[in-house]
This record gives sequence, structure tokens and C-alpha cells, in this order.
Amino acid sequence: MKQAVIITGTEVKGCTYHMKEAFLQGLGGAFEVTEFTLPRDMPHFCVGCKLCFFESESRCPHSDSVMPIWNAMLGADLIVFAAPVYVMRVPGQVKALLDHFGCHWMVHRPDPAMFTKRAVILTQSVGAPNAAAQKDIVTSLSWMGVPSIKRFGFGLMEGVIWDELSGRLKSRIIRKTKRFAKGFRSIKPARKSLKVRVLFFISKQMHKGVLKKETTPGADNRHWIEQGWLKGKDNSV
Ligand SMILES: Cc1cc2nc3c(=O)[nH]c(=O)nc-3n(C[C@H](O)[C@H](O)[C@H](O)COP(=O)(O)O)c2cc1C
Repeated sequence: MKQAVIITGTEVKGCTYHMKEAFLQGLGGAFEVTEFTLPRDMPHFCVGCKLCFFESESRCPHSDSVMPIWNAMLGADLIVFAAPVYVMRVPGQVKALLDHFGCHWMVHRPDPAMFTKRAVILTQSVGAPNAAAQKDIVTSLSWMGVPSIKRFGFGLMEGVIWDELSGRLKSRIIRKTKRFAKGFRSIKPARKSLKVRVLFFISKQMHKGVLKKETTPGADNRHWIEQGWLKGKDNSV
């Protein structure tokens, strides 16, 4: 069975929650679903120790919270982020999680499993455009190598409390989100996009340059050599 991971950027069982539930219903049982809710499941800010960059993500002081989410993303056919818009951007708890994934950006140690992933970003706001908040997530996923990222956003307009929205609006949100989700029921792995290829090429040139200056390869270049993307100084791959 295909796997989906859903990361919801609020613990409130409000508008984001109902959108996420409608999306799940729209998937129609085609996926085994693993869910995480923020900040509950990853309540930490990056402390800037840089152990993930210089040594390993397993050395992160928050690896107990971060690694289960990262591993679920690696194993998923579909990665879903559902979040409200906070002050025109993604909520801090989502950004805090994305910060912890910096070591998996292509300028560091991308995981090739990401190069065929499909991702979905569900957002809603009371009225503000959703694009900037969605872009915060798109930027991270793109630099991690995810080639297919679809966005779906709503402007509630009527208010911010789910139970106070009109029945008409609630059913419109649910209907449209379910319909959007149906399109993912029979997904196949995505192809490496031109954007991902370009980012990978730029990152490879950068890593090559760094490798020339290194007496022994650092954690990032060891990864690139192990993956066969760069030749080691002794020509090892
Ligand atoms: C701290 C905070 C900041 C928000 N900022 C915006 C905003 O800039 N623009 C907007 O249209 N809605 C904003 N909202 C409303 C949310 O995007 C969302 O519509 C609302 O929280 C309902 O979703 P929920 O039930 O999932 O929390 C904000 C809400 C909160 C709590």
C-alpha cells in the first residue's frame, strides 16, 4: 500500500484540521497515513549547534522529534503539509521543523529518495493571499529535491473559527478539498524536474569546489562521494 505522511501545522481542531481531514477522506483509503502535528510532535527551535551539518543529523539535540518525521517523509509516496497562514507566512512551528531539515538541502546532504517524491501544501487564511506561506514550504522541499509540489489554498473570508463559519462555506471547503485529494489516489513516483536538476547541478559544482580545498572530505562531501555523485581525491566513489 502507498504511504502518505501528513504534517499539520497547528494543534487546533479548526479550519486547517477540517481541511486536512477532508483531504484524507478524498484520498479514499488509497494510502496508509502517518500523521504529525506541530508543535506537539516537534516543539523545538533549531539551536544553531550545526552538528547536523558538520557531523550527522543523528547528533541534533532534537533528533528524537525530528528523525521520526524525516524517516516518515523518506518512506512516503506523498508528503502533505497542512497549515494556517500566520502573519502572511507559514506558522513558526512549521518553519522550526523546516529549519531542522537544512542539512538535507542539496547544498548539504540531499537524500536521493526525495528526487521522486510528490508533495501537497494545504493552507488557509482569513483573507490574505496564501502564496508567501506556501512558498516557505516549497522553497525547503525544492532544495531537498522534491520535484512535484502542488499547492491548494483557501481564503475563509467569513471568520477564523470553524464552528462559526456558515454551513455553505464549510461544505464548499470540504467538497473542493476532497476533489483536490482525489487526484492523488493513484499517483506514481514523480520524475526529477528541471528545477531539481538545475539545483542539483549548482550544488554539485559547489561541492566540487569545496572538496578541492578540503584535506579530508567533510560530512557533506563524504555523502556526495558515497552516493557516487562526486569522485573522492583518491578517485574513490
Ligand atoms: C497568529 C495568527 C496570525 C494570523 N495571520 C493571518 C494573516 O496574516 N492573514 C490572514 O488572512 N489570516 C491570518 N490568520 C488566520 C489564519 O490563517 C486561519 O485562518 C485561522 O487561524 C483559522 O485556522 P485554524 O482554525 O486552523 O487555526 C492568523 C491567525 C493566527 C492565529
